[in-house]
Amino acid sequence: MPKKNASRPVVARTLPALRRALDSLRGGGKTLALVPTMGALHAGHLALVRHARRHADKVVVSIFVNPTQFGPTEDFGRYPRTWNADLAALAAEQVDAVWAPTPETMYPDGFATRIAPAGPALAGLEDRFRPHFFGGVATVVAKLFLQCRPDIAVFGQKDYQQLKVVTRMAKDLDLPLRIVGAPTVRERDGLALSSRNVYLSPAERAAAPVLFAALGACAAEIRHGKRIAAALAGARAKIRRAGFAIDYVEARHAETLAPIRTQKDGPTRLLVAAKIGTTRLIDNIAV
Ligand code: PAJ
Repeated sequence: MPKKNASRPVVARTLPALRRALDSLRGGGKTLALVPTMGALHAGHLALVRHARRHADKVVVSIFVNPTQFGPTEDFGRYPRTWNADLAALAAEQVDAVWAPTPETMYPDGFATRIAPAGPALAGLEDRFRPHFFGGVATVVAKLFLQCRPDIAVFGQKDYQQLKVVTRMAKDLDLPLRIVGAPTVRERDGLALSSRNVYLSPAERAAAPVLFAALGACAAEIRHGKRIAAALAGARAKIRRAGFAIDYVEARHAETLAPIRTQKDGPTRLLVAAKIGTTRLIDNIAV
């Protein structure tokens, strides 16, 4: 249970303030974990904070709604911003510092450098529908790593391709930190927690658990020997019947994200992205 009456974390909004906060946290050789977020925090984010706490002495959470990872027709403008509630939740989790830079601090006039991830970032999943996304994520995450210089950084398996992209980038650029993946936190009916779930109407919210249910049934069928293509076809039909427009429902190699045709090519990960009304949801599970 979160502790009540916890002291509020130090909030840094400028790079000099961040440096001061981190110097003091790191005193005496303490290790530091970073949990990057875009705010609108829910129990999934707070589980990452607890995960971070188990791996390091001090925990920093960044809150920054990163404009460069949103496409021109996406939800940057209306992305939920819940600063006061976020800060209270982080205080209750005894987070040590919050890094909340302004867009001008992250992208000052003349900013002209962008990381172009390949490999898992071009797997043909999210990248097919959000071509701006992983370049924006990799660039902002590299900046957050260099600004905070954590020993570890925690990311959710909820955004599975993102976790693989960030892990690859850290390895390729010899970034001196360890990337840790944490399991997806779900509602009781299976819907993966997401800051975007607030967009769902009551009817859409009632339909949304089909994503996890269909992936779960598909995984069980594959484990019992059903052909992957046939199992995926069944999952797609269920998801469509519930009112979703599908971007993809796919089986991929859990590490490389390469397409696979049989369980022998695994370990297998099932991944879905689909839209209900105007809301796009993603989810994934292991087979
Ligand atoms: P955001 O969507 O706020 O997510 C922040 C972190 O929380 C990510 O690592 C994400 O995978 C994790 N997360 C979200 N929902 C979760 C759930 N239900 N269970 C477990 N973890 C969950 O992902 C981003 O922000 C941004 O792309 C970011 C990495 C901060 C770069 O801007």
